[in-house]
Amino acid sequence: MNALALTDDIARHFGRARESYEQAARLQRLVAAKALTLLKPTDGLLLDLGSGPGWFHPKLKQHCADLIALDLSFDMLQKSRASQQATLVFQADAQSLPVASESINRVFSSLMLQWCEQPQLVLREINRVLKPGGSAVISTLLDGTLQEFKQAWAQVDGHQHINQFLSLDFYQQLELQHPELGLTLQTELVQLDYPDVLALARELKDLGANTVTHGRNKALTGKQRWQKVQQAYPSRCIDGSISASYQVLYLVLSKQSIE
Ligand SMILES: C[S@@+](CC[C@H](N)C(=O)[O-])C[C@H]1O[C@@H](n2cnc3c(N)ncnc32)[C@H](O)[C@@H]1O
Repeated sequence: MNALALTDDIARHFGRARESYEQAARLQRLVAAKALTLLKPTDGLLLDLGSGPGWFHPKLKQHCADLIALDLSFDMLQKSRASQQATLVFQADAQSLPVASESINRVFSSLMLQWCEQPQLVLREINRVLKPGGSAVISTLLDGTLQEFKQAWAQVDGHQHINQFLSLDFYQQLELQHPELGLTLQTELVQLDYPDVLALARELKDLGANTVTHGRNKALTGKQRWQKVQQAYPSRCIDGSISASYQVLYLVLSKQSIE
């Protein structure tokens, strides 16, 4: 899939999930709450990148004077308009922000970065739009996320069913090679329980997070194959319930003040 088709696919899947997203957003709630503890309040502008349906906007609004919401998905933005927390809502790609340089006090971005082909571009864009002395809090997922599900699928067929996530090493290299970004990194392992693998797959679909960015098998998965995945899932409980791992990375980006 080329880059344009991929962003369209991501936007379409998230758009379809606009009504089911909030109910399914268990991981997203935990991660956004933790990310918020790292965000310094501002009496200026806060940009929420990859804002989704805007369920978190009442909380973000308490940390700024004005909130701007940006997302790739028009449908997600329509949903977030309804909460009337954001002064401005607009559709754009976080890898190329239609935002003036040095115009924003804070950026918040929770669980969007892993959907971007070039996360380093997003970080560069965030640094560009921040005012000197401004800062950003960004959360994303690292490799090891959904590793049990991936392992189970690998025993059933050779297709890719789970997205590839970047390693911590990728971000550590960025931290070293781009001191101008003023990055600090923090990781957290979150584990969520599910009644079975189908419940996990359903949650991903309800979130719109079921786009597989590379090498997807488009065939539908039948009941028998789901049973095989369930059987192959590592460390199942006797009642069939499973646990899924999410490796979360929190990045704080601090733009230098002018001396
Ligand atoms: C998992 S949701 C997170 C939504 C919200 N931040 C939350 O924590 O619940 C990811 C969101 O990022 C958006 N997104 C994905 N790629 C994007 C990109 N390149 N630019 C802007 N938004 C993007 C999706 O449309 C989706 O609404």
